[in-house]
Amino acid sequence: MMRLDRYLVTLGVGTRTEVQKLIRAGGVEAEGTVCRDPGQQLREGASLRVRGEALDTRLMRHVMLNKPAGLLTAARDRKQPTVMGLLPPAYAALGCMPVGRLDKDTTGLLLLSCDGELNHRLLSPARHVDKTYCAVVDGPLTGAEVAAFATGVALSDFTALPARLEILSSSAVESVARVTVREGKFHQIKRMFEAVGRQVTALHREAFGPLTLDAALAPGQWRELTAEEARALYEAAQMEVHQ
Ligand code: URA
Repeated sequence: MMRLDRYLVTLGVGTRTEVQKLIRAGGVEAEGTVCRDPGQQLREGASLRVRGEALDTRLMRHVMLNKPAGLLTAARDRKQPTVMGLLPPAYAALGCMPVGRLDKDTTGLLLLSCDGELNHRLLSPARHVDKTYCAVVDGPLTGAEVAAFATGVALSDFTALPARLEILSSSAVESVARVTVREGKFHQIKRMFEAVGRQVTALHREAFGPLTLDAALAPGQWRELTAEEARALYEAAQMEVHQ
């Protein structure tokens, strides 16, 4: 149970003072009737209307975003636009956070969730959640690079875990490959290619653990995870489902 005023603040409707004023002025309906008591106790998921408009009152949300190039993966940044700007403000108010990071110029599947424990576990090195990327690089790829990735590429500060490299096309000037890694270190894919003498010119994440980017989402578009997707994600994190 939660107080009405606190519920509205949590959903990003306004500050405590603002929502209390709104409630007292009769601007809020709870479970179908106008409620002027900010201290009214409500269950999670209760039906709420603010100035006649129905609110989405779920506190737990999980989102799949097709990240466009040019946005930072961060909860907030003082100078540059972030992926959070693509979602309604309620998501930030609810503590919805990106699960890991994609570089500013990387596109594709980015998950965001209000469940901090889920985020933490999905990123834990011990969990080894697979991430699959499509990479465009600036030269040929051969069995030598496939073997190097499979063995574990040595970087300056650590040796990457064995990764799967599948060559989709290769030419002297440009190649396209699908790469699956079980880690998520800073610039990992770019650094792994650099270690074998290739520059990544485009990087797109196709899958994260059990989830694949929905092909219906254009860059910048997002949707909530289905119940089945959320279940699969919690299973990958070895947690009880919370949705
Ligand atoms: N590896 C990278 O180099 N960049 C990303 O954005 C993700 C993985």
